Amino acid sequence: MALRRPMVAGNWKMNGSRQLAEELVKKFGRLKDDSAEVVICPPTVYLESASKLLEQSKQSLDGRLVRLGAQNVSHHEFGAYTGEVSASMLREFGCNYVIVGHSERRRMYGETSDIVANKFATAQKMGLTPILCVGESLAAREARRTFEVIAGELDAVIEKVGTMAFDNAIIAYEPLWAVGTGKSATPEQAQEVHAFIRQRLSEVSPFIGEKIRILYGGSVKPSNAADLFSQPDVDGGLIGGVSLNASEFLALCSIA
Ligand code: G3P
Repeated sequence: MALRRPMVAGNWKMNGSRQLAEELVKKFGRLKDDSAEVVICPPTVYLESASKLLEQSKQSLDGRLVRLGAQNVSHHEFGAYTGEVSASMLREFGCNYVIVGHSERRRMYGETSDIVANKFATAQKMGLTPILCVGESLAAREARRTFEVIAGELDAVIEKVGTMAFDNAIIAYEPLWAVGTGKSATPEQAQEVHAFIRQRLSEVSPFIGEKIRILYGGSVKPSNAADLFSQPDVDGGLIGGVSLNASEFLALCSIA
């Protein structure tokens, strides 16, 4: 764990309002415990005001920093793609990170592993660090196909960018059956998959395998975070619902 700084990232999904976003950002900007890296990913339209508020809190808090991430990015760099937002625009608005391959986008918006791999590559090229989400459905887990699904989603990106590109990336394991259901993976289930992901990267580069941060996501809350985050291959969490509650989210940051 010493090699890898824990991270807690909040994915607000399509929630909130301008007022709520500003209230939350102000509270998160006052984070006391700086042992874990903290990232918030508000909806795109709130990125600019979030960036300004975080910048102000950075200036008044000795340079301690909550980083900003986006929830999605176009796999094109620029052009006639109505409704899309490019990686360079996200950079310009103060983002360091972007989530790619979230199961909600794969499932509801038809994002294939190929599109996800292109998003990963474009994000990196434009200076963002991708947070790549992978995870199996309940049916796949029950059919004992968890490793096969995870390997497929991971390999699609590795084939596109190579293992060394993971030097500048985060992976989030989010089993679909745990996302927004209130039923988290057990610490043992999470550890088993995280170890598998790390091993797969280590086969090509032990350095990357050792260095890559792998977050767990899916119904993480203050009551189960300590057990999940203490697993040797779990480097923190990607948090949905609880990231909208400032005090609970800050509790998770302290636990990590
Ligand atoms: O990206 C985070 C997410 O999918 C987990 O959501 O609400 O189960 O914490 P939640």
